[in-house]
Amino acid sequence: MTQHAYDVESVRAQFPVLNQQGDTPPAVFLDGPAGTQVPQVVLDRMIEALTSSRANLHGNFSTSRRATALIEDARCAVCDLFNARSASEVVFGPNMTTLTISMTRTLAPLFHEGDEIIVTGMEHDGNASPWRMLAAERGLVVKRLDFDPLTYRLQLEELDELITDRTRLIAINYASNLLGTINDVAQICRRARAVGALTYVDAVQYAPHGPIDVQRLDCDFLVASAYKFYGPHIGVLYGRESVLSELRPHKLRIAPDVVPARFETGARSLEGIAGTLGAIEYIEAIGAAYGVADRHVSLERSRTANLHAAFAAMADYEMPLTQRLIEGLRSIDGVTVHGIVDPEDFSERVPTVSVSIDGVHPTAMAEALSDRGIFVWDGHVYAPDVIERLGLTSRGGIVRFGITHYNTAAEIETTLSAVREIVDVNSNAVMTR
Ligand SMILES: Cc1ncc(COP(=O)(O)O)c(C=O)c1O
Repeated sequence: MTQHAYDVESVRAQFPVLNQQGDTPPAVFLDGPAGTQVPQVVLDRMIEALTSSRANLHGNFSTSRRATALIEDARCAVCDLFNARSASEVVFGPNMTTLTISMTRTLAPLFHEGDEIIVTGMEHDGNASPWRMLAAERGLVVKRLDFDPLTYRLQLEELDELITDRTRLIAINYASNLLGTINDVAQICRRARAVGALTYVDAVQYAPHGPIDVQRLDCDFLVASAYKFYGPHIGVLYGRESVLSELRPHKLRIAPDVVPARFETGARSLEGIAGTLGAIEYIEAIGAAYGVADRHVSLERSRTANLHAAFAAMADYEMPLTQRLIEGLRSIDGVTVHGIVDPEDFSERVPTVSVSIDGVHPTAMAEALSDRGIFVWDGHVYAPDVIERLGLTSRGGIVRFGITHYNTAAEIETTLSAVREIVDVNSNAVMTR
């Protein structure tokens, strides 16, 4: 593996949106947790799919053969991204939410009245509502594994009481899209397995920042979305092969009845799946250029090793920016950061930083930042249970800053100055009212 010092300008040069020429400087994209920007290699893959492989799958002519091969190449790439045992454990779908709702439909017959499922209090609604709807339909008991609103960590000590011999499934967030906390998924999966419960891991926020190893986690399902890791709008699901092979999803009678194809209903988005392959190739190239050998594991497959090395390099770059952002925000009057703030504990967080600001509504802050060319998300960010637990529902939620490996130290300084200025303008306006 060739190693160079991480070079953010070379990285940024690969993203067309970050290099647009015009009267106004490029926006500061801190909206990564809601969707990252897309490098040229992803666009190239999508264009190639739509020009040289534009056909449905399994036809007996060249474009269709190429399309079929492309989907399988992408499946192998996701297999390596997740370190799954085989590509048959990878299912493509439109997004995480749709894949999850479909999976609840497929799993429904396995659950019986009085069975219990555990959902953490840290979930994005995509990994909460589908299970609650299933529970309402099948008469299941839903238990919540809460988080501590002071430490922003799950209260794992409560698991002993929550898990019983009726527990059938635990839904766990790998990393919170609001707090940024990375959860101890391996431990929860181990505890679930001890009572024969399934585990469903939402890795949507974790996937752009950290190495995933489903074999180490020993989870039954894990879902992610390519548009959060530099790709297009596609959802990807890992399912343990022994579990998938037992499940019977709704499907057309003429569709193949094999794993994983029987979980992919109708025509797939060829261009989306090709773009997902491009996104994984992009991350792999970061690993080849700047990779830091994974500190924790040795991996058999070289693509997986490269991907893990890329995430280590990205984290090494992203975390000092996160530290500066958190310190800067906390030095502004009235700002509270809702998440882990001690750099010693940064291995337990992704670079997603949410704040509330006394006297400034989150939407007003997001709009004022947008006027200055800085894009951030505000409100409940689809995690209403977390907002409620933090007591921020009536305050309009939070403002979320999401750092990724293409952001720069200068962008963080610009953002901090802008937040400070908006808070000052607001408090002067309040004083003169
Ligand atoms: C943690 C988390 N889970 C699930 C989702 C939903 O993903 P999708 O938009 O692919 O349905 C999101 C989207 O923001 C998310 O951040």
